[in-house]
Amino acid sequence: MTEPSSNPANGDSGQGFTKRAEWSSRMAFILAATGSAVGLGNIWKFPYVTGENGGGAFVLVYLVCIAAVGLPIMMAEVLIGRRGGLSPVASMRHLAQRDGHKPAWQLVAGIGMLAAFLILSFYSMIGGWAVSYVGAAITGDFTGQSAEAIGEIFTGLLGNPWALLLWHTVFMALVMLVVGRGLRQGLEKAVTILMPALFVLLLMVVGYAMTTGHFGAGFSFLFSPDFSRLTTEGVLVALGHAFFTLSLGMAVMMAYGSYLSKNTSIAGTSITVSIMDTVVALLAGLAIFPIVFANELEPGAGPGLIFQTLPLAFGQMPLGSLFGALFFILLTFAAWTSAISLLEPVVEWLEEKKSLNRVSGTWVAGLSCWFLGIASILSLNVWSDVTPLGMFERFEGKTIFDLLDFLTASVLLPLGGLLVALFVGWKMSQKALREELAMADGTFNLWYRTLRYFTPVAVLVVFIYNLI
Ligand code: TRP
Repeated sequence: MTEPSSNPANGDSGQGFTKRAEWSSRMAFILAATGSAVGLGNIWKFPYVTGENGGGAFVLVYLVCIAAVGLPIMMAEVLIGRRGGLSPVASMRHLAQRDGHKPAWQLVAGIGMLAAFLILSFYSMIGGWAVSYVGAAITGDFTGQSAEAIGEIFTGLLGNPWALLLWHTVFMALVMLVVGRGLRQGLEKAVTILMPALFVLLLMVVGYAMTTGHFGAGFSFLFSPDFSRLTTEGVLVALGHAFFTLSLGMAVMMAYGSYLSKNTSIAGTSITVSIMDTVVALLAGLAIFPIVFANELEPGAGPGLIFQTLPLAFGQMPLGSLFGALFFILLTFAAWTSAISLLEPVVEWLEEKKSLNRVSGTWVAGLSCWFLGIASILSLNVWSDVTPLGMFERFEGKTIFDLLDFLTASVLLPLGGLLVALFVGWKMSQKALREELAMADGTFNLWYRTLRYFTPVAVLVVFIYNLI
């Protein structure tokens, strides 16, 4: 991003109060948004929720959710950001008031921030797992090991709260370091190199998976839908995950959109980001499931899935320690760029509302998040029997970590997305939307109708089905 250049868009159409910095190019926005979107959600979460929900049918629902719910909402969020030209909360307030609506709409960005804070607390713990696996790969812990031995390395890590705390601390420190300095310089550059590198490494693991002889089984697990294995909860998880993986429902895309130049197509960039995000998730699935089937592992193994499968592949391939270390380094980076985008809005808000400076804001937000993360760490070992909502059948056996995941991905993000859709679809003037999107009538109408009718109804139906 360049330092505040004059953004002509803010001057004449009068959206913003201040001059905003702009991304140095369209590519920079795409990379930063992709950096936020592509993270643990794609490589860690997508494969394991797919495994838990029976494969193909779930993947199909997920793809529909990305295209028909996620993409229209991403466009809406970027649009709010660019039109408002301010921080997410301020943009929402400003846009609402200008069209004569209640300033309470800014609460949408508020829900988003709460979600960000809660997500980051456990996201950092998982990021910590990735960091710890870098070391394990370098020292050759995986070389030639059996599936069992590799499973034990993972259960050993989860059973050790002190080790988890250490890695969680390291990861959170990395995130706070970047956010504390302001994102300008570093983020753009890092993402430009690291994202393509991650992509190449992922392709290599897929290449390895093709040689295991169980590629066909993995492929059909992912792509041949068996609807008898799809549950209504699975549909909710797919919807929630579409929000999670595209970084929607909590104002991140609004924040990034506010730096986007007026000449850039919102639809084009949103489509690019969604496609890249989806491709990375599917590649991760193609890398992992053949290894799962070749080693008779359990696809529904849960959050540990990639940590129990990929090391097996690295342990068996030539130069595996090197590639394994590289892979987990890149996974750490992918998680890092996403985590930065989770902490950033909270810090911006503290700066704006509580008049903290950036460094103190980063300390306050980062440390509180770190502290909350301890609850997720303990729920894997010392508190593994603590199930605060266990009296309700729906939440039986769910630990604090499970509940945080459910509250954020399955409740807060879809709720935030629903409100964004309602705001843009029903409250903003159509003229403003046409101006921002500058699309042909046909495509505009398709988007507009989807956002007005389909998206809210789909989110509500899935919600009501599941929460009642
Ligand atoms: N999309 C990221 C991932 O898939 C996680 C993430 C970053 C996120 N920022 C977000 C999720 C904002 C929801 C909202 O790993």
